[in-house]
Amino acid sequence: MDARLPLHGGLERGPAVTLTLDGRPVTAYEGESVATLLYAEGHLATRFTRNGEPRGVYCGMGVCFDCLVVVDGIPNTRACVTWVREGMAVSRQDGFAPLREDG
Ligand code: FES
Repeated sequence: MDARLPLHGGLERGPAVTLTLDGRPVTAYEGESVATLLYAEGHLATRFTRNGEPRGVYCGMGVCFDCLVVVDGIPNTRACVTWVREGMAVSRQDGFAPLREDG
């Protein structure tokens, strides 16, 4: 699935990059945020609370911390202000995550 809008009027996407989303290889484009990738792949929820309730992008500018995901094993990463890059591993987050590896 790719929910990206079609390009018109001479607009171009950045170069394609390959990364994984929940362990599945996906294509994104340089300049896109992780939140954009999630939307493009049909996921409005970036994480789930410990009660299983979905959460997603709310402010879209790094303030509310509702869009947390796990990036390259680092939990609590804001999807709306994190840009995709080649080889990145993104997972939607379940419940709370420790603030530190030993936490
Ligand atoms: S949507 Fe608010 S911090 Fe990402």
